[in-house]
Amino acid sequence: MKVVVPRERVAGETRVAVTPRTVKRLVRAGLSVHIETGAGSASGISDAEFIEAQATIVSDPHSLYTDAGIVLGVQPPDAETIARIPAGTFLVATINPLIEHDLVNRLAEQRVTSFSLDLVPRIARAQSMDVLSSMSTLAGYQAVLLAAMSLPGIVSYLTTAAGTLHPAKVLVLGAGVAGLQAIATARRLGALVWGYDIRPVVAEQVESLGATFLDLDVAAEDAEDAGGYAREQTQDQAQRQQAAMTAHLAEMDVVITTALIPGRPAPELVTTEMVAAMKSGSVIVDLAAERGGNCALTRPGTNYTTDSGVTILGPLNLCCTLPAHASLMYANNVVNFLLHICRDASIDVDTDDEVTIGTLVTHDGQVVHERVRQVLEA
Ligand code: NAI
Repeated sequence: MKVVVPRERVAGETRVAVTPRTVKRLVRAGLSVHIETGAGSASGISDAEFIEAQATIVSDPHSLYTDAGIVLGVQPPDAETIARIPAGTFLVATINPLIEHDLVNRLAEQRVTSFSLDLVPRIARAQSMDVLSSMSTLAGYQAVLLAAMSLPGIVSYLTTAAGTLHPAKVLVLGAGVAGLQAIATARRLGALVWGYDIRPVVAEQVESLGATFLDLDVAAEDAEDAGGYAREQTQDQAQRQQAAMTAHLAEMDVVITTALIPGRPAPELVTTEMVAAMKSGSVIVDLAAERGGNCALTRPGTNYTTDSGVTILGPLNLCCTLPAHASLMYANNVVNFLLHICRDASIDVDTDDEVTIGTLVTHDGQVVHERVRQVLEA
């Protein structure tokens, strides 16, 4: 079966869906891998390295898709590319189907069988396929470094002959995968760290990393859904949370926000008034910028400083600033997923398998993922 890996075309995307190491695993599994020329260059992987791993390099993007069996991508293909994918082809990419409704309908119309890696169930046996976790890990790490570079001082405690430098105070809002990695990274740099999440179950994880869990006493009993994700708060809960958090924010040098609700805009945790109460020179890194941001003043994709001296960073697709490791992790997730659904060098759509059915978005011309279908119908 022919596996096709196009060059990513979305501006700013630096990752690639395969590495030489994962190509070797695919070839060993009996698949032939065809990669568009230059696909790995933004990640520091040359065509020659792919050729050495037994891949075929294709320079004509039109012939790339001829006889394709499987298409692997980081970003989903654009409309023009979908039209080139033969009906019945399998697609594995990060489709974001709960939000990208037109794309999902287009894939169904073209009769592409698509799997979206952002839907991989959060279960132990699927951890090695979980792109949200691997990319969030990198984003959480990088957010702390961005904050450190924007601060007017250093992060760690230092006693010198020229005076004592006190450690930066860092608050991480949302202690999922990105938040926990941000906490761990800030601790490693020597910051004093606090963590907060609407799900009280994460308090233990925050504390195990050497941070203090901020107990705002507003968590509801049903804060977490069956999948381990946060539920959207009521307006009353959100207001009580903001009121309780304002005084804490005023003490901080760095606030890193990571709060997300699947399929919804990011919740607003930091209001304009809360930013106004923060210290001049403090920094907010809003990792939820892609979904509108957790801070009312975030400008997605832009960094700026308010009149009161608070720097607000709204990075987009932060993992792309670490292309080598982002590609390494993403490609490992892809190959682990692909080899999970492959039997004897062809794909078996096993509808009894939780991982397969949880990620399958379109099949046989239909949108088959229940949650995606519900969202589309709504
Ligand atoms: P996410 O990216 O959807 O959200 C980030 C964090 O924001 C979450 O911890 C969420 O509770 C929090 N949040 C949402 N609204 C908030 C609010 N209003 N105020 C404060 N915090 C708020 O979450 P992520 O990182 O994808 O993790 C979701 C869950 O999945 C976690 O329980 C995580 O431990 C679990 N997980 C399980 C895995 C596995 O078993 N294979 C792998 C990865 C994650």
